[in-house]
Amino acid sequence: MTAPSSVGEVLISEEQLQSRVTELAADVSADYAGRDLLVIGVLKGAVFFIADLLRQLTVSCELDFMAVSSYGSSTHSSGVVRIQKDLDVPIVGRHVLLVEDVIDSGLTLSYLLKNLRSRAPASLEICTLLAKPGHKRLGITSRYVGFELPDVFVIGYGLDYAQRYRNLPFIAALECEPGMIRP
Ligand code: IMP
Ligand code: MG
Repeated sequence: MTAPSSVGEVLISEEQLQSRVTELAADVSADYAGRDLLVIGVLKGAVFFIADLLRQLTVSCELDFMAVSSYGSSTHSSGVVRIQKDLDVPIVGRHVLLVEDVIDSGLTLSYLLKNLRSRAPASLEICTLLAKPGHKRLGITSRYVGFELPDVFVIGYGLDYAQRYRNLPFIAALECEPGMIRP
């Protein structure tokens, strides 16, 4: 694929992504063996990760999505989270795995966790493809983490900048060009 000019250094290759997803799927399958799993994806960024992860799970699972917004077209968390699409199913008594693309400040997830916990699931764990250092301040523990990243803004494999670049098969740093709103 020809890289557009704002695509910077490739930080995680397609091969690295796929082999880590295989490892995560094995971990999730082992941990949830014999249990009925409800996977909740956070739209839109987690879609590519979920699609690859779920195809490798060996446990029975149901899939639902939530859409939240904490960001506009710029790249800093506003701290205000709004549910744009809620779940289609109740989660009371279910084993829930919340799948995210990236935890940055952790604000989105801490809101979502509080919201989902109030619905009384049997268990609630997080699986994030990427984790940046900032979330540790909020004390969020993700049971499954694909890759730890430094504090850089990244694009690809579901992650966007102003809704672009989600379709890149790898994760790259965003290269700032003149006129862009800086991350
Ligand atoms: P948080 O609330 O700061 O943890 O931000 C979480 C959300 O911000 C993620 O689910 C992404 O949608 C978005 N986000 C955070 N960092 C990045 C990034 O590096 N690239 C693209 N989106 C990001
Ligand atoms: Mg997200």
